[in-house]
Amino acid sequence: MKRRIKKKPIIIITSTLIIIILLLSLIAYINKINSKEYKLEKKGYSKSEINEILRMDEKQINYAIKNNYDRYLIPLSKEKYFIWKNYKEYISYIKDDYKTAKKGYSNVITKVNTMTNFEPYTKTKQTNMKLEYGILVNKHYSLPDKYAPDDIVEMTSQYAYPNNKIRKEVYEAFKEMSKKAKEENITLIVNSSYRDYETQKQIYEDYSDKNGQEYADKYAARPNFSEHQTGLSIDIFSPGYGMKTFENSPAFTWLSQNSYKYGFILRYSKDKQDITGYSYEAWHYRYLGKDLAQKVYNENITFDEYYAYYLDK
Ligand code: DAL
Ligand code: ZN
Repeated sequence: MKRRIKKKPIIIITSTLIIIILLLSLIAYINKINSKEYKLEKKGYSKSEINEILRMDEKQINYAIKNNYDRYLIPLSKEKYFIWKNYKEYISYIKDDYKTAKKGYSNVITKVNTMTNFEPYTKTKQTNMKLEYGILVNKHYSLPDKYAPDDIVEMTSQYAYPNNKIRKEVYEAFKEMSKKAKEENITLIVNSSYRDYETQKQIYEDYSDKNGQEYADKYAARPNFSEHQTGLSIDIFSPGYGMKTFENSPAFTWLSQNSYKYGFILRYSKDKQDITGYSYEAWHYRYLGKDLAQKVYNENITFDEYYAYYLDK
């Protein structure tokens, strides 16, 4: 009788232990199959890929879990200017334009971010006017129809050829820059500045009538798509140097090193014509304000790229 009494608790303890172990194993199993690691492994990602994905944002992790194995996710995400909301477009660009995409993922990112994966003027958005001096105006981003700033002032002959007007703050910045340049015997003179809708329309149509639309689009913006209509851009010359030669002037060298300190950036550079959409213009400077100009200068990318990544949130 005594022996039977002793045996019972052992059986109870053993079976309880077994049940606990079974339950714990079941919980561990359920946890495992619910884990992100397991789900990603099932999609075909390797251990190192899983580690990289788990370091991404929640939205990207969920995308990887919900969709089939995606070989572009990791390399595209690693690119400096990767924007998640453009992800589907990156993929369709890679698939549609395989030849250009082959140049590299950073090229894909740049093209899609700047909308230059579309032909100029085929898909356009209105620029974000809330950005004030940081608005982007190009062949993909327009001003509101017939936009005209309300703080345009006339420039005097000390700073500009006749009939030049510009926004007040830009004029003040240009005067400051011009005075500093003068201290180093550099003369800056504004050749063209604010152009209203009608004037820009006339310029574009003249180019187009004389040389055809393709030529016109290379050198002039269509109305509502010109930086000159913003009142934030100026074409700068120096005595003895015009459009063709300005690049070789001491004024150009000085501007290249100093214009950002006064809020201006060179807008259409030689090596970025496929992004800016314009032929190289050594004379065309865009006012962004000192802070923003410094940032764009430091980043060493076009304003089109900068706007897409940092400003157009
Ligand atoms: N030449 C510049 C691109 C303009 O027409 O606005
Ligand atoms: Zn210009």
